[in-house]
Amino acid sequence: MYFLVAILKVNDMKYFIGIDVGTSGTKSVLISENGKLLASSSYEYSLYQPYNGWAEQEPEDWWKATVQSLHDIVCNSGVTSNDILGIGLSGQMHGLVMLDAEKKVLDRSIIWCDQRTSDQKEEIDASISGSKMLQISGNATNTSFTAAKILWVRKNKPEIWSKCRYVMLPKDFIRFKLTGEIYTDASDASGTQLLNVKERTWSKEIAGALGLDMSLLPTILESCEKAGGISPEVAELTGLCAGTTVAAGAADNAAAAVGTYTIKEGEAFVTIGTSGAVFAHSSEYKLDPNGRIHTLCSAIPNEYALMGVTQSAGLSLKWFRDTFCDEIIRTSKETGISAYYLIDKMAAKSPIGANRLLFLPYLMGERTPHFDADCRGTFVGLSAIHGKDDVARSVIEGVSYSLCNCIDLLRTLHVVPERIYACGGGSASAFWREMLADVFNCAVCTLKCTEGAALGAAILGSVACGYYSSVEEACKAMISTEGTTVEPSMEKHLMYEKYYEVYNTLYVALKNSYALLQSIRILQSNI
Ligand code: XUL
Repeated sequence: MYFLVAILKVNDMKYFIGIDVGTSGTKSVLISENGKLLASSSYEYSLYQPYNGWAEQEPEDWWKATVQSLHDIVCNSGVTSNDILGIGLSGQMHGLVMLDAEKKVLDRSIIWCDQRTSDQKEEIDASISGSKMLQISGNATNTSFTAAKILWVRKNKPEIWSKCRYVMLPKDFIRFKLTGEIYTDASDASGTQLLNVKERTWSKEIAGALGLDMSLLPTILESCEKAGGISPEVAELTGLCAGTTVAAGAADNAAAAVGTYTIKEGEAFVTIGTSGAVFAHSSEYKLDPNGRIHTLCSAIPNEYALMGVTQSAGLSLKWFRDTFCDEIIRTSKETGISAYYLIDKMAAKSPIGANRLLFLPYLMGERTPHFDADCRGTFVGLSAIHGKDDVARSVIEGVSYSLCNCIDLLRTLHVVPERIYACGGGSASAFWREMLADVFNCAVCTLKCTEGAALGAAILGSVACGYYSSVEEACKAMISTEGTTVEPSMEKHLMYEKYYEVYNTLYVALKNSYALLQSIRILQSNI
């Protein structure tokens, strides 16, 4: 649990709440109408990985964390709940939540980074051509999006599937628990592979080809539209007023775009959370002809976004911390200094290139640019001279190279931002921001409020309740562009470039070996 109350209430000020249903935890923030962060609270929960490449969470865990964090920020901030006018949500994308006829959760959610669905990807490919799928859904068929997860449940858990009456995404489940109403929004629906992204409607053609009953799917709203009010039961649990407006909200990266003021053509941000993403706003519907970049609806009505994704960004560093850093974790507990800060210090002792050690961050397969569910994390160049400093640095560099693959692809689509905003937990690291600037050869900035997705969600709440008339107006009022900027160093960029070139040869060299390794797992476990 993490809890912060920062600033005293100013009379007549109005407030908004953003709830970010993430992978490591759920965070709620209370933000004033002029963008001051008053209170923040978050609670973590488990990620279940019963087999290599599987990833599941309990929707009830998201809900408990939402209620606790809301209760903290509402009851301990000194703000009167009558002055909280709107609530918005942001959520991890693609996860499958299924409810029965009584609206009870049927099973754990198979979440975005789960990679068990290679057979289902093939099934989808056999039902609808790749070019048609790309044209309609804005995305190449892939193992991460919700459609493949639905087909997996239909095939492997028919008893559950037969009871399923409602299919929804993680933040939509939380909104349902808050309001009793079921909706989704266009940005999150874009990650299901069932949306006609250009039209912002469910695709009859895709659903028909996959044999899916469209009545299972929720009504789609724009992110800043009202999608219900807080129910009396939830008001009782959290201290909020019954009836407080809840916005449809957005996918986490679309919400982070709002929270980083990335709402105009050519602007982009990079986020390092459990996953990593480079996200660029686009006022037109544009496609990567090879389908290696996602095309999504943005949280701004009728606008779009292009996004590349690193499956395991913060996840790679968390894995390194939890697996190899007992001493650092102990020191962190004793001193209160963040373990990640201590890891940064350690990594900074190793030179650029980590003494010729490279890491491919494919712990949960990789999305951009490979779209390969079988590849796995790899160290290349390990020597007896390497110590933990080098390993730590190579992990951070490997994630940065993977994010650079996303930037490179965006550049091929003529997205060449002058600067990139950084958000997500990893952006708190000055060491990492500097590395990103040097690797990307582009200035990396932060804003005064670094809440990203949660701030974006609160902004969407402020529009849904009518306090601001548009997302743009709300961003102007609530986002202060003061922050930090790190300019790239050409000297360091050229040094990173040598390693990046080698990094880019490795996936090609290892692709077949990854597939072979996965086939052994398939034979042994019959899965
Ligand atoms: C985006 C993606 C992740 C999740 C979790 O496509 O899979 O960014 O939204 O953050």
